[in-house]
Amino acid sequence: MREQLANIRQEALKAIRSANAAAALDQVRVQYLGKKGELTAVLKQMGKLPAEERPVIGQMANEVREALTNAIAEQSKALAETALNLKLAAETVDVTIPGQRTALGHKHPLSIVIDEITDIFTGMGFQVAEGPEIELAEYNFTKLNTEEGHPGREWTDTFYISAGGDDPKNDAVLLRSQTSPMQVRVMEQQKPPIRIIAPGRVFRKDEADATHSPMFHQIEGLVVDKGITMADLKGTLNEVIRALYGPDSKTRFRPHHFPFTEPSCEVDVQCVECGGKGCSVCKGEGWIEILGAGMVHPKVLEGCGIDTEVYSGWAFGMGVERLAMRRFGIKDLRLIFENDVRFLEQF
Ligand code: DAH
Repeated sequence: MREQLANIRQEALKAIRSANAAAALDQVRVQYLGKKGELTAVLKQMGKLPAEERPVIGQMANEVREALTNAIAEQSKALAETALNLKLAAETVDVTIPGQRTALGHKHPLSIVIDEITDIFTGMGFQVAEGPEIELAEYNFTKLNTEEGHPGREWTDTFYISAGGDDPKNDAVLLRSQTSPMQVRVMEQQKPPIRIIAPGRVFRKDEADATHSPMFHQIEGLVVDKGITMADLKGTLNEVIRALYGPDSKTRFRPHHFPFTEPSCEVDVQCVECGGKGCSVCKGEGWIEILGAGMVHPKVLEGCGIDTEVYSGWAFGMGVERLAMRRFGIKDLRLIFENDVRFLEQF
């Protein structure tokens, strides 16, 4: 029996040390120390031994069990450590591997120009108003003193969505052809003093070519307060144009006609390319038209419930695409809306 125990000890220790995973180690434990294990089997035969041998063999058996139990614990610890080290090695982050490049978007050239102009006006105390692109004929035309018969009201010029009901002159629904209806929408909702700009999309039945698009952008401006005169209009717009084109830029205010302003004007800036001599940029004119403006027509003010004995105002509307084209040297308007990233990346 001594020999048997010594053999078990030797074999079991060998098996424990060569167990390379937790499951294999547990199998070895069951094989030797389990209820039906080899060591247990030996102990069960103790009864057959002579009385004087029993304590000696018993002690030996205990020693074997202890040795095996300790060896199993040790091996188990060693296995856990190896597993942890393997895991740590596998999960190491190599900070020297180059990262994946994420393409960063940036502002569209139109947004750059709109944001810049918005900054100039908000710096002067203006607020930004936004309104619907789908508009009533009433706001796009009637309340802006644009009577029936005006070419802008024709189906050939403006995108109508519905002809309107009993009162087609006002009920007709259309894609706004200008940002000017925002003047009315603001004046109906806000009491003077009013200082707003309203940037947004407008739509006209124009064929797309290098200088036209059926959808483009305008920025509307409106000031209504006590004692507002043409001098305020000129002073403010000159300031804005200086901020946009540089402190030495020259402007020209030409008489014009718009139904919703009286008097009305168009404002030109002297061509920065040729200094007024005439070149291809200004088409030989020496001047470049940048906006329409005027004193808000009393009929428009009164239609919005504003007392013209107390208040007066001025307004302007400018096209954003033309400004962006000049600013960035874009030769074809269509490029602005094609949104080819190779084009957009340049701004
Ligand atoms: N809405 C006009 C257009 O699209 C531009 C315009 C002219 C706006 C004079 C105004 C203004 O506010 O006072 O041609």
